[in-house]
Parts: sequence; structure tokens; C-alpha cells
Amino acid sequence: MTIENRISNFLAELGDQDENLFPYMANRKTGFDPEKDSVYYSGPYWDSREVSVAIESLIKGQWLTSGAAVNKFERRFSKYFGFEDSLMVNSGSSANLVMIAALKKYFGWQDGDEIIVSVVGFPTTISAIIQNNLTPVFVDISWHDLNWDLNLIENLISPKTRAVFSSPVLGNPYDVDGLLTITERHNLQLINDNCDSLGSKWKGKYLTEYGVAASCSFYPAHHITTMEGGMVSSNIEEVVKLARSFAWWGRACYCVGKQNLLKDGTCKNRFSEWIPNCDVAVDHKYVFENVGYNLKPLDLQGAIGLVQLEKFEEIDLLRNQNKTRINEIFAKISGCHVVQELDEAHCSWFGAPIVCETSNLKRKLVSHLENNRVQTRNYFAGNILMQPAYTQYGDWRKYPNASDVLGKVFFVGVSPTITREMMDYIEKVVDDFVGRE
Ligand SMILES: Cc1ncc(COP(=O)(O)O)c(C=O)c1O
Repeated sequence: MTIENRISNFLAELGDQDENLFPYMANRKTGFDPEKDSVYYSGPYWDSREVSVAIESLIKGQWLTSGAAVNKFERRFSKYFGFEDSLMVNSGSSANLVMIAALKKYFGWQDGDEIIVSVVGFPTTISAIIQNNLTPVFVDISWHDLNWDLNLIENLISPKTRAVFSSPVLGNPYDVDGLLTITERHNLQLINDNCDSLGSKWKGKYLTEYGVAASCSFYPAHHITTMEGGMVSSNIEEVVKLARSFAWWGRACYCVGKQNLLKDGTCKNRFSEWIPNCDVAVDHKYVFENVGYNLKPLDLQGAIGLVQLEKFEEIDLLRNQNKTRINEIFAKISGCHVVQELDEAHCSWFGAPIVCETSNLKRKLVSHLENNRVQTRNYFAGNILMQPAYTQYGDWRKYPNASDVLGKVFFVGVSPTITREMMDYIEKVVDDFVGRE
């Protein structure tokens, strides 16, 4: 019997639907109990295939860490989303870190050069700029879509500005044409933190097709998950090569997957006098061109990613269906609205952003939902300059819209793990809130 058959028999014996053994599969189970079950805002959309390939890669793997499966996932992911090349790393935060490091080196940016970024978002979009000795220049948001206010960007451009770092709010595209007018006029690079917007499009093209490089996250809350994981992608192969070096200890060798078994390496010159002022042959694998990190994923994460990628279309569709249902449900509450996508956009929603007119309404609504086991989330850090670690980087008071985000904005999930029964339950909880108000 093949390993694959043994694993699938083993899984069948344990029972795919047993929620105690496979909580991630319980996300898909029918029979939601509204009296006691919680509605998680997101979670892995897995079945026995992800478990099976992970176990198989543990049993068959000769090296276990980043290898053939990770490399295959990098290539399939690139093809699917229209990139020349990609590098898988152990998280979306790591992806941001090495993407910025690679772009800085590729374009020759200097310490202190400036990157324009929304003041509201996830912290590791901004920390990647700071940790690479670049300077974040913050833009306030627009209440219309919670994205950066494009009208404010041009005033922030200085002779040191090199790029704009976009991170669409919960996947929702901003007016890309409007931004491109600015970046082209001022010769700025567009970098995409695409961790929340995998699959989102502007005028029929992936958002990432408009930028120089993109990051992605495979944390369980995201569109596809490899438990932890992330990706750096670009159409400039040198950028991905540099990112790989930063993520792989800083080394010069760029062999991946099976290429590592080549006697002379991909460079065909593996043992050579690589190190200046040292006239002995050195293995290219031990030549260090960058001050790097170790941010490699495990091969089983690559194997899981390959299965998840096959589900992407279904996941995108289900997320959109759930978003439409959330629009209908929350429209019943006066004093709050669910943010919508622009006409030219297709949004692959990460979550449904809800804006309340007052912080009192947000407080009451969130506590009603949470008390009834419907999970909610803040829109991440809110105004990042209010967070203890970031007050040193600017005065939060200069960003009035952003400063209201923690008070007035929250989001609920649209993940495919939220079934129709769970949506019916959310509707009942909201009806109850409306009845009481
Ligand atoms: C916009 C954005 N960037 C970066 C990250 C970091 O990703 P990870 O959790 O994989 O490190 C997240 C996480 O959710 C995110 O939402």
C-alpha cells in the first residue's frame, strides 16, 4: 500500500469530521449549535488533503525544511497570480521585512530615504520600513474606504521619497488609477503589502500587477493558510533573488529545491574563488553577500500551500457571498455602515469593515456580538502612532481620521469557514440588537 493510501485510510479511521481531532475540519462541519458554538471570524479552510500532504512530506522528506514542495508552491503561486518569481518565507511579516530589504538594495535606496504609508494598518507593514533604516512618512485615511487619502499624498513627497507602500484595508482596493498618476509623476515605486488582499483586482488586473513587488501572508485568518507562512513576489527576478538571500542567512547561493542537489550548482561554478582576497575555492553556499536572517518555512508548509492554492477560486467566491450577506444583515442597524468596494474594483474580502457613527454605538454593538459568541476584531492597530512602540515616530494628533478608527471601526469575518447556518445566527443576533435599541 502506498504512503498516500495509508495516510488516507488512517484519516478515514479517525474520521474527517471529528471536531476534537481535527478542529480545522470542524470549521466546515454542519450542525452549528447556536446555543453554545462560537462564530470564529476566520480559520483554515482545510480538509483531509492538507493533513495528508503534510504527513506525507514528513514521512518522505529527506531534509524537511524548505525544499521541493516549497519551491513547487513558489512556482505555482507565481504562475497563478502573474509573477515572474516568488520566495516563500515563514510569515507575512518576514515577507515584508525581506521585500523591503531587497528593494532597498536593488534600487540603491539610502538609510533615511522615505516611504509613504497609511498611518492605519498592521504594525509589521511599518516595522519593515523602520527595521530597514528607512523612514515611514504617514498619510491619514479617508472615511470613504478607510484606505489612505490619495488627496494628501502629493504634499508628503520630498526629494528623499522613494516609494509608496500600499496595504488595502481588509482587501478593499483604493483608486489605483489615482495613485498611479502620483507615482508616475514623481517617479516613485509602488510596493504592495498584499497580505489581506490576495486576489483583489483593479480593472480586471490583480492589484499586485501594478506594483514592483508584493508580500502575502498565510496565517490562518488569511485567504489561504499554511499555518504560518508568507510570500514575496515580483516580476523582477533579481528582487526575489535578493529577498531569498536575506531570508536564507544572507547567503549568495540561489539554488532552490532540487537545484540544491546539483554538483556544480545553478551557477555552474559552485566551488570557486568567490571571496575577494581569498584565493581558495569556496562553496557558493557559504558565501554571504547580505547581512541576513533565517526566515525559511518548512517543506510541509509548501505542500499544504499547493493544496490551498487549488481552492483559491472557491474561497474567493465564498468570501464574497458572505460579505454580501453581512452587508444585508448590518444594513438593519441605523448609525453604522459596511464599507463597499469601488465600481472598478473586485475585492477578495479579508473581513467586512463596519464603521459606526459614534464610539458609543461601536462599544454597544461589539459587546452585544461578543456576548453572543460572534467574534469581532479591531481594524488592527488603528492609528499606529498611538501604539506604545510607535509614538516615537510621529504625533498621532496630526491624523484626525485615523485617530477615530479604534473608537468607531471594527470588522466581522467573511471566511468560508462561516457557514450559512452561522450567518443565519449572526442575523438573529443583530435583529436582537436592533429590537433592543
Ligand atoms: C496587512 C498585513 N500585513 C502583514 C501582516 C503580517 O502577516 P503574518 O501574520 O503572516 O506575519 C498581516 C497580518 O495579518 C496583515 O494583515
